[in-house]
Amino acid sequence: MTGTKIPEDALETVRKGQAETVVESISTKSNVSIEQIDSEAGSFDGEIPPDIAELPQVVRDTVSFEDDPTTPILTFRYFILSIIFIVPGAFIDTMNTYRTTSAAYSIFFVQIASHWFGKWLAKVLPKKRVSLGKLGLFDLNPGPWSIKETALITITANSGATGSQGLNSLSLAEIYYGEKVNAAVAIFFMWTIVFVGYSYAGIARNFLLYDPQFIWPLALMQTTLFQTQSKSDLDSKQSSKQMKVFFCVLIGVCVWHFFPEYVWPMTSSLAFLCWVAPENYTANFLGSGLGGMGFLNFTLDWSNITSSIMLYPYWVQVVEFVAFVLGAWILIPSVKWGGLSSFKSGLMSNSLFLANGTKYPTTDLLTPDLQLNMTAYHELGEVYLGAQRAWNMFFDYAAYVSGFVWVVVFGYSSLSSSFKKLIKARKSNSSLSLQYTDRLNKMQAVYKEVPLLWYIILFAASFITLLVILATKSLFMPWWCLIVGLVFGSIIVTPLGWLYALSNFQLAIGTFNELLYGYMIQLQSSRHPAGATVYGAIAGDAWYRAQYILQDQKIGHYMHLPPRSVFFSQIFGELIGVPINYAAMRWVLSSKMDYLNGTKEDPLHQWTGQSITSYNTNAIQYVVLGPSRLFKNYPVLPYGFLLGAGAPLVLYAAYRFFPNSKLKFNLWNTTVFFSTLSTFYGNISTGPLSLFIGGTITMFYAYRYKHALWKKYNYLLAAAIDTGYNLAILLIFICFSAGKVILMPNWWGNNELSVERCFALAKAG
Ligand SMILES: *[C@@H]1O[C@H](CO)[C@@H](O)[C@H](O)[C@H]1NC(C)=O
Ligand SMILES: *[C@@H]1O[C@H](CO)[C@@H](O)[C@H](O)[C@H]1NC(C)=O
Repeated sequence: MTGTKIPEDALETVRKGQAETVVESISTKSNVSIEQIDSEAGSFDGEIPPDIAELPQVVRDTVSFEDDPTTPILTFRYFILSIIFIVPGAFIDTMNTYRTTSAAYSIFFVQIASHWFGKWLAKVLPKKRVSLGKLGLFDLNPGPWSIKETALITITANSGATGSQGLNSLSLAEIYYGEKVNAAVAIFFMWTIVFVGYSYAGIARNFLLYDPQFIWPLALMQTTLFQTQSKSDLDSKQSSKQMKVFFCVLIGVCVWHFFPEYVWPMTSSLAFLCWVAPENYTANFLGSGLGGMGFLNFTLDWSNITSSIMLYPYWVQVVEFVAFVLGAWILIPSVKWGGLSSFKSGLMSNSLFLANGTKYPTTDLLTPDLQLNMTAYHELGEVYLGAQRAWNMFFDYAAYVSGFVWVVVFGYSSLSSSFKKLIKARKSNSSLSLQYTDRLNKMQAVYKEVPLLWYIILFAASFITLLVILATKSLFMPWWCLIVGLVFGSIIVTPLGWLYALSNFQLAIGTFNELLYGYMIQLQSSRHPAGATVYGAIAGDAWYRAQYILQDQKIGHYMHLPPRSVFFSQIFGELIGVPINYAAMRWVLSSKMDYLNGTKEDPLHQWTGQSITSYNTNAIQYVVLGPSRLFKNYPVLPYGFLLGAGAPLVLYAAYRFFPNSKLKFNLWNTTVFFSTLSTFYGNISTGPLSLFIGGTITMFYAYRYKHALWKKYNYLLAAAIDTGYNLAILLIFICFSAGKVILMPNWWGNNELSVERCFALAKAG
């Protein structure tokens, strides 16, 4: 039973259909890519019952049409395992937000391991009924483990075993402005922003959930995994071998990571050029992976590689590598030694600078009541961005627009046909309660639907809580921005959800939200820099979370789970996850504060909080100074939007004129390209080269020439390595920096000045 064949089976079905393209999900949460599934592929002969024929072929091939509605689901085992799998996930994903590179907590791991544990629990738990007083009886062990329990645990973990957007503002305020938000306020804030998103799922659900034409590719992929797990339950020999491989790899990887992450940090960045010429500054800058260009630099630290090399299709990896070469190996040296930019300071930093190249004292810009101190601004002068940070922003804008345009031009035919069907369905269906007649919906009719009222109550409770928090000025944003953010969220949730349901493309709306907030807040005299991230968390989660919850509900739909149990499990997951997020934040902030606020430098360049720094940089630019000042100083930035709109059009034209060209214009996904170029390499540039080599081995060589082996082990190994790595980080954190901080003594492989032995660079810096 296990994860191996899984998504591959989905891909195979897909190939049988007529998939030509692969979708990359630029999502904040999942980093799984899957082949695009064409919902129209279908070749049925008269044999298939009409209500099954209504389903797209890929769905027919994946889901099971058997269901036993009496299977117990919300069991004691479910609760135990959900908690066990949520707690480390919520902790790790929070920790990761402060690191420069990291691997996400693997949902495949939850799916695979919870199934094994569940079956074990079903074996060992006593078959006893326990009384809960007035609440009635419950079964400690109601019989054999079912795949539905595994599915529900996975859904619960999807919801709870994640980080929280709300942490950005809380950390930013604390790290940069020394303002600590009350713990209760922080936790309720994080709960409510997510619950708003959950309740917004209620808006989109009628359009996107029941209609079989919206297949939700990622949900389908996970369903395939579940089906394979339940099938391979029957073959115990095979599954025990896979289990052995899984745990051996997991433990091996975990033990190894004590080296790059603690004992022997040199292995996290093998800088050949520095070994050859340790005292030559130029060679050092070229070769260093920690603050240099990462040229010919290899890494043995999984956080710099991650399972993306086993999940992303090969050509996506090629596009990403090309973008890395352009960004780190061409643009960086052209600024440093060439004439690309006249402002040469801060090239490898994402902070803000004075004209003379020293760090901008951003707190001096604010008066005690949070206004822009014009006297100070005139004294200090213009705010400068490092050149790399400037092109990061430029390409971020480009990626945002390109995301839309690419989908529209390349996906036009499938989008328009789905839209036509949607309209037709609405017309033929005069009653508002949409009656879908396919087999899946019929089977789901056995279960009680979640009443709309539940969503309304959830929304009302969250809204009032948020309003109280903001109106009492306990967070950094004026209350009326909440209304704007929520209205904005409710408008975009359905169209963006529609796009995601069909193509798996998730638009990252963060940049846009912050910019919008920047414009709005200029009307206000008092404006806290952390406000932009509060707004971003509210407006962002209203859509991100709505989409995740819908996706998970679609899994529930495919797996015949009762909708009410799914709804409950998602709330339950979040209730557990958020306090853990908060605890993890407190723990990281108290043990790593010196690294995070820049008083000390982390030798591994890991605990830099570089994403928080970016948020602060944005906040100063958008909130305190205002977007118009930013665009006046950097007039080229808005052209990023133009580039993002134009590039997909050019490629599309090229593709239309030369559809069979060897250059394969349709694969040069500009969105992927631009968003890679918006990555900041100033802290860590080791990785991409190793990533590319690793990806070539797994997704090109093994995929093509050792396919049987690949199919059996690729996803299993991806989950095992990610998990082994995460376990190591967790253990290292708990052992060496949670209580008393114990630093690794210096030795040859952990040099005091530069762990990668790039001495000239370290001395200069
Ligand atoms: C503004 O900045 C100037 C110069 O740094 C300082 O003297 C003044 O007190 C500041 N004003 C306020 C209201 O903080
Ligand atoms: C490329 O990116 C877009 C989003 O901009 C996505 O929808 C599309 O499916 C991706 N892949 C291909 C091959 O087009």
